[in-house]
Amino acid sequence: MKKNAVSKRLSNLPVHVILILLCAIWLIPTIGLLITSFRPVQDINTTGWWTIFAKPQGYEEYQTYCASCHGEDGSLISSADLSDADLVQDYRRSITLTPSLSREIDGEPHMGDLPVPDEDTTASIAAYMRKLSGIDTTTKFTLDNYIDALTGYRGNKTYRADCASGTQSLDLHCDIRDLANPRGMGRAFLNSLAVTIPSTIFPILISSFAAYAFSWMDFKGRQWLFALLVGLQVVPLQMTLIPVSRLFAQLGLNGTFQGIWLFHTGFGLPYAIYMMRNFLGSLPRELFESAYLDGASHWTAFTKLAIPLSVPALASLAIFQFLWVWNDLLVALVFLGGEHPVLTYQIGNMVTSLGSGWHLLTAAAFISMILPMIIFFALQKYFVRGLLAGSVKG
Ligand code: HEC
Repeated sequence: MKKNAVSKRLSNLPVHVILILLCAIWLIPTIGLLITSFRPVQDINTTGWWTIFAKPQGYEEYQTYCASCHGEDGSLISSADLSDADLVQDYRRSITLTPSLSREIDGEPHMGDLPVPDEDTTASIAAYMRKLSGIDTTTKFTLDNYIDALTGYRGNKTYRADCASGTQSLDLHCDIRDLANPRGMGRAFLNSLAVTIPSTIFPILISSFAAYAFSWMDFKGRQWLFALLVGLQVVPLQMTLIPVSRLFAQLGLNGTFQGIWLFHTGFGLPYAIYMMRNFLGSLPRELFESAYLDGASHWTAFTKLAIPLSVPALASLAIFQFLWVWNDLLVALVFLGGEHPVLTYQIGNMVTSLGSGWHLLTAAAFISMILPMIIFFALQKYFVRGLLAGSVKG
């Protein structure tokens, strides 16, 4: 019994190793992106994200040259406390530090038996002393990228620095109003919500009506209609862009939310109806027949039986439709464009044609990921069940 369990574990080992490897391959770049999004611009441009795990610059040099007398944290010699900001203030650059290192203290060389470090090393040590004493206030992590992305700041410094010094450009107010800046991700987030929520609710509502009719109501041409619907799924979305946008132009729907709701609803419907019908059709027939015998109308059967029973299917449909619309760029680009920029559209605008501003891209990417991630984790169990919907009868 025990032996069996062990050998079973062992035989599963390769699978586990491969799974862990796959997870690492997927996760490491994402973690890197997340860490990068919290780093200051200068750091992003000079070092890789993995260097945050390394000791600060000059740490090694300080340990080899200075720690033997000044101690690891610099405070061993009380008359020359290197963790004291006032003292280090005078020796913060190698220009002033080098003379001090090569002079004599009480007839002995400052460095004792150790060689005097060269110019570059001294500069690193000075940098480390600035960190140690707290003169250097730059931090490893900052929210600036997120603030700049949300407010759509396009300057040479950061939104906070510009607002603090009062040199902000004309389109910034330096208060909550900036979140509504049409060039920022904050506004785009709201626009994305405005596009996605109705574009998810409408198709699901309509498709559950239709699916009920297809599975439990008898009418002429039911099979033909359903076959047509399944067939409609092969129509590629791209093919319809031009005719639909010409139609929208005549109706004045281009660049409006209503237009894009209509489009997403239209394109979400065939699959939604197909999936819902498969699900509703697999519910036990006796259930509905006994309900009808008891005098239930179709409306009662729909609201009291079909809907409560198909919550898992509805939820998974909602997740898929939501993710699809949220991540869609093509339709939003064609029908909304810059009128009501959505997240996917605005991300592309973060980087200028000269390539500057890509540090904002990392933050922007996470801003656009956050909602799908919350929804995914919150509704995880429906997600898996939805993948199986219709494949097992039950
Ligand atoms: C052999 C021991 C020794 C080593 C190694 C040493 N120091 Fe010192 N350092 C001293 C002593 C002792 C003083 C105190 C002098 C005093 O009290 O005036 C001092 C003072 C200082 C001062 C105060 C300013 C001055 O000139 O009096 C600075 C800054 C300083 N050290 C930096 C460094 C740095 C940076 C290193 C490493 C590159 C280093 N020291 C390595 C012994 C050492």
